Amino acid sequence: MDNSAQIDYWNGAAGEKWVRDADRLDRMLQPFAEAVLAAAKPVAGERIIDIGCGAGALSFAASEAGALTTGVDVSEPLIAIARRRAEQRAPAAQFVVADASAWAPDTKADLVVSRFGVMFFADPAKAFASIRKGTKPGGRLAFACWRPLAENDWALMPIVAALPFLKEPPAPPPPGTPGPFAFGSRDFVSDVLAQAGWSAVRITPWDGTIELPGANPEDTADFMLEIGPLSRAIAEQGVDRAKVKDALVSQVRRLAGAEGRTHLKAAVWIVEATA
Ligand SMILES: C[S@@+](CC[C@H](N)C(=O)[O-])C[C@H]1O[C@@H](n2cnc3c(N)ncnc32)[C@H](O)[C@@H]1O
Repeated sequence: MDNSAQIDYWNGAAGEKWVRDADRLDRMLQPFAEAVLAAAKPVAGERIIDIGCGAGALSFAASEAGALTTGVDVSEPLIAIARRRAEQRAPAAQFVVADASAWAPDTKADLVVSRFGVMFFADPAKAFASIRKGTKPGGRLAFACWRPLAENDWALMPIVAALPFLKEPPAPPPPGTPGPFAFGSRDFVSDVLAQAGWSAVRITPWDGTIELPGANPEDTADFMLEIGPLSRAIAEQGVDRAKVKDALVSQVRRLAGAEGRTHLKAAVWIVEATA
């Protein structure tokens, strides 16, 4: 299984951006740490693996229950910041730089969790089969993944605002291509887990809004230029960032509520299964 393109991506500029924005991303994505843990129900003493743990927020939250959490991620810069943050927030949590599709824990896990860290495998069924082998029989899986881009205004709005300045609209990747929206189809997720040998698969929609980070519209626009599908399109097409930023600033001004905060629709699957 060749995950090298994603490994390079998360060890390059993308990983550095997620390091720089770690605190803001954690605030924006906090509802999904809560939703995953509400499904996972970690218990003191359990061994937990957090797949694609990034800067560690879900690992820290899982550790609060007294569990022994190991975060696994391919990104060296993100694991470095996770270890630094863990000193204050979850000293017992451990972090490993590894491709989660090929890594096995010394002791099998009771629980595997992830917040948006499982959609980047070249061969997801093979990856989830390997993850299942690292989980005790009867162990639990609980993760959050995005539903399709079209249902996620927080990611779609920046692309629509930038369209007049892009050389071409970003082509939607073929279904299943590794990336943030690879698990958008409920049937695809269900098939992947069934092929990988997981049972009692339960896929529940989460619908709500998330608050875009930023102290003011300019700051929010800068954030949107950095993260998500728009940042990829800008990098690939060599677009004039200043013009895109102006368009984003006016969109954010239009959408912000009276208190100056921008909430946009988010659509997520909360997926549970048993090993
Ligand atoms: C969208 S980020 C989510 C980070 C974190 N879970 C959070 O919620 O802040 C996706 C993460 O998955 C990691 N990742 C991608 N492919 C991976 C793989 N094969 N094994 C482990 N981690 C991977 C990336 O390095 C990145 O940190």
